[in-house]
Amino acid sequence: MNATPYYPVVLDLHERRCVVLGDTALADEKSAGLRATGAIVVHLRRGFQPGDFEDAYLAIDASDDPEGQRAARAEADRERVLLNVVDVTHQCDWIAPALVKRGPLQIAISTSGESPFLARALRERIETLIGDEWGPFTALMGRTRRRLRRAGIPPEAQQRAYRRLLRSRATAMLRDGSEDAAAALALTIEQSAQTAGATPMGEVVLAGAGPGDPELLTVGARAVLADADVVFHDALVAPEVLRLCGPRARLVDAGKRSGSPSTTQAGINDAMITAARAGDLVVRLKGGDPFLFGRGGEEVEALQRAGVPVRVIPGVSAAIAAPAAAGIPVTHRGVAASVGFVTGHRAGGDLTALEDVARSVDTLVVLMPAELDAIARRLAVALGPDRPAAIVAQATTAAQKVVRAPIGSIAAAARAARLQPPSTLVVGDVVNVLSDIGALSYVERETLSAPVAAPG
Ligand SMILES: C[S@@+](CC[C@H](N)C(=O)[O-])C[C@H]1O[C@@H](n2cnc3c(N)ncnc32)[C@H](O)[C@@H]1O
Repeated sequence: MNATPYYPVVLDLHERRCVVLGDTALADEKSAGLRATGAIVVHLRRGFQPGDFEDAYLAIDASDDPEGQRAARAEADRERVLLNVVDVTHQCDWIAPALVKRGPLQIAISTSGESPFLARALRERIETLIGDEWGPFTALMGRTRRRLRRAGIPPEAQQRAYRRLLRSRATAMLRDGSEDAAAALALTIEQSAQTAGATPMGEVVLAGAGPGDPELLTVGARAVLADADVVFHDALVAPEVLRLCGPRARLVDAGKRSGSPSTTQAGINDAMITAARAGDLVVRLKGGDPFLFGRGGEEVEALQRAGVPVRVIPGVSAAIAAPAAAGIPVTHRGVAASVGFVTGHRAGGDLTALEDVARSVDTLVVLMPAELDAIARRLAVALGPDRPAAIVAQATTAAQKVVRAPIGSIAAAARAARLQPPSTLVVGDVVNVLSDIGALSYVERETLSAPVAAPG
């Protein structure tokens, strides 16, 4: 049978007569919850008796009395009282959602009675996402809204102000207990909404998209993506990650390979500056970490020169994540105490820098190893051809592949395995320290935690 398609509502029970039946801890809890809404609560510490629902608006039967519950159901129908019989879904007019409550903010979770366990589990997850500051923040939003409406501010200007307040540091201030600072900030935003014609400056956030798996985005990056007006993303950013952008966000492929004029570095900078000046929250979403071989620094310089506020949300770099996802710890006590990150891209020079770093660290991580033959040849000379190496391709995605071979033969091994970009080269003894785990790909991680057969 399909789940009942319930219609969610939030009831105003102020001064409404509500009846709770039962002498159980649950009945006490329900009474307290109803009382907190300002309802007139009649708590009868027994099972149902005829006439209990007279003049009632809402009733909860939390007694453990099946016969009484059936009679309660019949009276509720006659008296047109909205009844909930705890844990007996088919006797209910309404069911109670799991709740995350922060002052006036209430997030209700319902599985339409399918799985109270799942509703509770999701509530526990949301509890960790929505801190206590959201209570006072909701109240602050309410005060701002009332003032803007009283002042007759047009709806679009109001919406802009709410968006600015939501994206501002007000929640962080409230988290730190600085109620006055948050209120002052809200007032500034309000005042600028009242200045006709003024478009407040937006902001650019350089956010790290991680190496591929959407679970490797930071909480901060997820939050700005949800709020963004426009997202300029690298070609490498996975579609699963782009799905985390809010429904209002305009997505712009700023991949330098997409060939359109707006995807030169200067074109991207100009487009970001224009959008920020129009008041947008602009997210520049860059693979891995924005500052590691990502030209993030150049973008920050250009934005600063243009007077556009900019901040950076670091990301999980492929330089760390690709080896980790292949079971390669870049440092390991007694094996490797130093690690170097280099680019295999010549960038107008030769590969001497790569060789120099390789000689001075225990573990070498090479990003952009497109010229793998040339790179491996140089490293085989510098380090000896037997130094362990691995190529991790499409790390942290379902297509991840790992190839291990001594540096002298890694290029041939990679070719034979027909690896697809992007890939990262790791060189050093750490490649084989966890060989059992390393043999498993990222997507096979479930196998790692499969239950061990019970003894005997
Ligand atoms: C232009 S660099 C940008 C690096 C990025 N800023 C970072 O911190 O991960 C691109 C290189 O990162 C590496 N890379 C990015 N994603 C990867 C992935 N999923 N698997 C393996 N290597 C990856 C590859 O070496 C690729 O050539």
